[in-house]
Amino acid sequence: MKNDMARILFTEEQILEKVRDLGVRLTEDYKGKSPIFLGVLKGSFVFLADLMRQVGVSCQVEFMAVSSYGSGTNTTGAVRITKDLNTDIEGRHVVIVEDILDSGLTLHYLLRYLKGMNPASVRICTLLDKPERRRAAVDAAYTGFQIPDAFVVGYGLDYAERYRNLPYIGILKPEIYEECDA
Ligand code: PRP
Repeated sequence: MKNDMARILFTEEQILEKVRDLGVRLTEDYKGKSPIFLGVLKGSFVFLADLMRQVGVSCQVEFMAVSSYGSGTNTTGAVRITKDLNTDIEGRHVVIVEDILDSGLTLHYLLRYLKGMNPASVRICTLLDKPERRRAAVDAAYTGFQIPDAFVVGYGLDYAERYRNLPYIGILKPEIYEECDA
């Protein structure tokens, strides 16, 4: 799989150091609040698993699945909930955990959806942010790394469901997705 990378953007060590920093901030900010960490499947599962173990406050984990991409590299723009929440979030502090904030369409939709359930607060924690690609106004309270507009995989992020198991984050060689999308 390493041969499919144009370059490695963040090593396993760099990611874990960043995750530790985010965990420290979340621990401080959510003291006494018992937050719900809401992972958006599938991409966030690796980040969420590491992040939770760096958070030192009592918390709960929940998952939703939302889909806006086909097997290609660009969002179709239409957001669809494929797995809904099955817990009541009214009056609770929710932290949406994402692997990547790209066009912002997914999180824009999710934020509106969740705010309709009257949580005490909703914030976003994303490992990666690609601000250049934003199409909907969404800001994350917690961001790991801002990245350029390149197609990244690994540490939960996929291309056509592959590469999620890489322990690092790499930029995929364009010929890999150009071949598949042709
Ligand atoms: C990715 C990512 C976010 C979304 C961000 O999910 O996990 O949910 O895209 O993109 P946006 O800001 O342009 O909306 P994807 O639909 O690829 O599904 P996956 O998590 O199952 O890989």
